[in-house]
Amino acid sequence: MIRINENFDKLQASYLFSEIARRVREYQATGPARSIIRLGIGDVTEPLPPACIAALHRAVDELAVSSSFRGYGPEQGYDFLREAIARADFQARGAAIDADEIFVSDGAKCDTANIQELFDRRIKIAIPDPVYPVYVDTNVMAGRTGSARGGRYSGLVYLPCTARNGFVPSPPRRAVDLIYLCYPNNPTGATATREQLQAWVDYARTNRALILFDAAYEAFIRDPALPHSIYEVDGAQEVAIEFRSFSKTAGFTGTRCAFTVVPKRCLAYTAAGAARPLHPLWNRRHTTKFNGVSYPVQRAAEAVYSDEGQAQIRALNDGYLGNAAVIRQTMRQLGFKVAGGENSPYIWVRTGCDSWSFFDRLLKEAQIVTTPGAGFGRCGEGYIRISAFNRRDTVEEAMERLRRIAL
Ligand code: MLT
Repeated sequence: MIRINENFDKLQASYLFSEIARRVREYQATGPARSIIRLGIGDVTEPLPPACIAALHRAVDELAVSSSFRGYGPEQGYDFLREAIARADFQARGAAIDADEIFVSDGAKCDTANIQELFDRRIKIAIPDPVYPVYVDTNVMAGRTGSARGGRYSGLVYLPCTARNGFVPSPPRRAVDLIYLCYPNNPTGATATREQLQAWVDYARTNRALILFDAAYEAFIRDPALPHSIYEVDGAQEVAIEFRSFSKTAGFTGTRCAFTVVPKRCLAYTAAGAARPLHPLWNRRHTTKFNGVSYPVQRAAEAVYSDEGQAQIRALNDGYLGNAAVIRQTMRQLGFKVAGGENSPYIWVRTGCDSWSFFDRLLKEAQIVTTPGAGFGRCGEGYIRISAFNRRDTVEEAMERLRRIAL
């Protein structure tokens, strides 16, 4: 008898953004003419940077000619892209990451979900609350948790991220084996200082733990004191894997390109306590299950690192950060406490009531889609996340609607 993976039965609801899309579809069906403004899922709205478009065209033309045609590429990514990433994103910031420690993929969502295949089922996992739901749900699917009660799964160590700790948790007193961190943070928009990351790296070294560091939003950092990579922190290469994405950095949510950094010095342990580097394990997994990102898309990603590409993504992301400033200011004027939105495209708003009710109210009274904080975890209850990914005139229209409904 073929049996299902019953761990799926433990999942609490459908995937957060699918659930929101369902509710929005249902609402739209009751009044198809309604103009709904989407500030929910963090999906980009601006076209790809011209440097990326030009590179895509050139690469497509190469594929049209037999002398420059390419079939399967290296699963880990072409050297031209891995080298550009290593130089610009790491070496230029003093982090000694080599090109062969970079694994190009089709998304940080998939990579953060797939990486847990490398670890034993019985490890102890620490998860911030609120958190990007993929980290939790994939561990539930893999059978690393018990069932959920009151919005939390047994077996996980939750790290509350609240206004009191600036939405950056300190390491727990007890030892854990795997820690998920994401800065600039999704959903709260908070950032972590070098000292805060150093405390986590020191903790991981002491406890022979591993940090999974999601830096998908690093391109929105404008404060020069903030680290962009965990590898800017001493000792991180032995205890951290970092995830990056071109999705938000360069508008690739539909184009798909990302990468994961697994330093050769990064270790995990056998049951007998023998140290094993994770690089060959991830390489094995990646080459077995993935056939690489398409050549034109990797050329487009490479173009992000050209001088013009860098100027264009800076302008692109400054535009979204400008939206974030408009949202922050409006919500403040309307009397709400807000966090995030300064080095991040997400604004975390304290609602004063339960988050799904507030979500429903914004949808039904102002036709604005946001993301209810409770969908990211128990500590997200009482908040909503507003995404700055939209056009400026649309964001201004959304803020005008909020003013009109007198929240
Ligand atoms: C979000 O809105 O949290 C993100 O867009 C989801 C994702 O990157 O998968």
